[in-house]
Amino acid sequence: MVNFKDLESFSIRVESLQEEILASEYKNPEAVKQSPLFTISDAAKYVGVSRKLFNDLIADESIERVTPIKTLEKEGVTIEKTMPAKFTLDQIEKIRQHLKANGQKGNYTNRRPKHTKKPYTLMIGNLKGGANKTTVSIHLAQWLALNGYRVLGIDSDPQGSFTSLMGFLPYEYKGLPDGAYYVDEINTLYPLYSDNEPLRPVKTYWQNLDIIPANIDVYSAEFSLPARQIRDGESFFDILAKALVTKEQDWPTEFDTHYNGEYLGDVYNPDDYDIIIIDTPPSYSYATLNAIQAADAMVIPVPAQHLDILATGIFFKQMVSVFSDLEQIFGFSKEFDFVVGLKTKMSENFEALQNGGRISAIFRESLINTPFLISKSITVASDFNKTAYELQNTDIIGRSTLKKSLDNLEQIHLEIENKIKQFWQIQTKLEIK
Ligand SMILES: Nc1ncnc2c1ncn2[C@@H]1O[C@H](COP(=O)(O)OP(=O)(O)O)[C@@H](O)[C@H]1O
Ligand SMILES: [Mg+2]
Repeated sequence: MVNFKDLESFSIRVESLQEEILASEYKNPEAVKQSPLFTISDAAKYVGVSRKLFNDLIADESIERVTPIKTLEKEGVTIEKTMPAKFTLDQIEKIRQHLKANGQKGNYTNRRPKHTKKPYTLMIGNLKGGANKTTVSIHLAQWLALNGYRVLGIDSDPQGSFTSLMGFLPYEYKGLPDGAYYVDEINTLYPLYSDNEPLRPVKTYWQNLDIIPANIDVYSAEFSLPARQIRDGESFFDILAKALVTKEQDWPTEFDTHYNGEYLGDVYNPDDYDIIIIDTPPSYSYATLNAIQAADAMVIPVPAQHLDILATGIFFKQMVSVFSDLEQIFGFSKEFDFVVGLKTKMSENFEALQNGGRISAIFRESLINTPFLISKSITVASDFNKTAYELQNTDIIGRSTLKKSLDNLEQIHLEIENKIKQFWQIQTKLEIK
């Protein structure tokens, strides 16, 4: 017989090993994230100018270049070789701002249309764990930010994988390397869900990408949300949706700006962002319900494996059942601008191709045309707690393997961006009428 006391002993044993586990994971200085370095061609591409103009601008702006030095051994002699200049995300943003300030023609910063009330909110969801939700969310969020959108990534999964990849450690522990960040509960979704406290996004090492991080505290929302419903008669499924349209000055309740004399950080303001990406847990939780209600659109990654396709069917079934209940009980209805499937774990093998065909048959035209290919770049990157973008200009993976993977991601991201832009255009037309 096993009772809860026995389970507690497992948990205590995990805790006693926690220091050791975290120490081995974070001993590496890479735990403190820094901007990756971009070549001049990539930097120019993301800003949307020619390499030549980019080069001229750096000369003008005297933006410091990073010139990596490579040490080579040749016939027993050590040679230091200066490599071509590289740029950080921060420098890329400076160039962008410079172009904008100087009235250069072109869209160097991507902004949502003025009349839109809130950032375009895209949820990445599927009940299935390992469907590549987090991988899709983080690469999309980083790519949009690279292209000049102001992005907010919301991690609503208590497991916090998106959060870790963004350089925030899920636990505080004494061996943290200098400069490492850990998740503070105040920045998670928990204060919103439990007490209607405002969201407090944190800045990250990735320029233009802020996050609402997650850790296990977020899981407590699963208890506080229904409790609020019972206690205050407040609806428990649209709290995030309401928060995302609330400006700083419009919070219904007084909230603390300081705790123990320390500033708690800036409060979320919809005007600060163009696009929000919500990564969701692999469960039908209250947090997932809130994400669905807050989302303008949803991308559903579906692995090209038969069990995952079946699990996606259950996801739809549950969603339909929960939302028709909500409609009956609360009289509310939910509409998405679009819901699209995305084939993941695609390869050339027979089974993947066959299952890919099935996914196409299910989603028909509501499908991202480019499948997300299985790639060594992504597996290796995640072993290093990195995204594929962070492998650029490192020796970790071969250039052609990485390029193939980055090109694949770019095709997927462009398709998603185009869908969002279509809806912005539709709204603009309605506004003009
Ligand atoms: N395109 C890919 N190629 C190879 N491995 C991938 C790819 N996408 C994701 N993975 C790996 O699959 C695992 C599960 O992906 P993840 O995004 O965490 O799934 P989810 O968030 O749906 O649970 C991770 O270890 C991730 O690194
Ligand atoms: Mg995940």
